[in-house]
Amino acid sequence: MTVHFIGAGPGAPDLLTLRGRDLIAASPLCLYAGSLVPEAVLQHCPAGARIINTAPMSLDDIIAEIATAHAQGLDVARLHSGDLSVWSAMGEQLRRLRDLDIPYDVTPGVPAFAASAAALGAELTLPGVAQSVVLTRTSGRASPMPEGEALAAFAATGATLAIHLSIHRLEEVAAELGQHYGTDCPVAVVWRASWPDQRIVRGTLASIAANVGETMERTALILVGRALAAEDFDESRLYAADYDRRFRAGRADAVKG
Ligand SMILES: C[S@@+](CC[C@H](N)C(=O)[O-])C[C@H]1O[C@@H](n2cnc3c(N)ncnc32)[C@H](O)[C@@H]1O
Repeated sequence: MTVHFIGAGPGAPDLLTLRGRDLIAASPLCLYAGSLVPEAVLQHCPAGARIINTAPMSLDDIIAEIATAHAQGLDVARLHSGDLSVWSAMGEQLRRLRDLDIPYDVTPGVPAFAASAAALGAELTLPGVAQSVVLTRTSGRASPMPEGEALAAFAATGATLAIHLSIHRLEEVAAELGQHYGTDCPVAVVWRASWPDQRIVRGTLASIAANVGETMERTALILVGRALAAEDFDESRLYAADYDRRFRAGRADAVKG
C-alpha cells in the first residue's frame, strides 16, 4: 500500500502527467484538495473508487482516512493543484505518514507559474534581463512570511517575480515593487491559467491595479519583471553560430556521456 501524492496541474485536465493519471486509475481511494483540482481529473479514478474532497477536512481527519486505507491495504491517490513542491501542505502530511510508517511517493505536476508563463507566451529568464525567477507570496492569515523574505528583498535582485496568493493585495504589491523595478516595469496578472475561463490582464506597476479593477479574485498569479515585455535582449549563446558545439548530439566529435 502506498499513498501517491500527485500534482494535478494548474487546471486543464490534459496538463496532468501520464504517471499521475495511471496512479489515480490504480488507486481505490482518491483524496483531492478542493475546487482547484479539476473534476475531469477525477474521471481517471477506477469504477467504485471512494472520492473525497478534503477542503472541509482537518489534517487529523485526512490522516485518519489514509490510516484506514493503509490498514485495509488500499492505495491512495492524494491530489493537490499544480505541483506539490510549493504551497501544497504536503510537507505536514508526509511528516505524519513518516511517523505512522505509511509508505508514500510523489509525482510532480505543472505549477501555476509555468502555466501562466505559457499563457503569456513568455520566457521568464531572458539573457541579460533576468536569469532568476522567485516564486513567492505575501503574508496570509494561515502563513506569515518568515523574516527576511520581504518582497523588497527579492525585488532588490531584479529577478522575475511570480507572486502567488496575493491578488487581493495587488495595489499594495504594485506600489511597493514600483520603488524597486520602476513604475514602468511590466506586470501580467493571469487568472485561472489553462482553465476555459482563463483571463490575462497586462500593464505596468503603475497601471496594473486599475487595469485589473475589481473583477479579478483568487486563483490569480502576479508576474512582475522586465523579462515580461523585453524585446531588446541578447540572444542566448547556446545557439550562436560560433558556439562550441562539442556537446551537441549528432555531431561527429560530440562528447558522449
Ligand atoms: C495554494 S497555491 C497552490 C500552488 C500550486 N501548488 C502550484 O504548483 O502552482 C494557490 C495559488 O497558486 C496560484 N494559482 C494556482 N492555480 C492557478 C492558475 N490556474 N492560474 C493562476 N494562478 C494559479 C494562485 O496564486 C493561487 O492563489
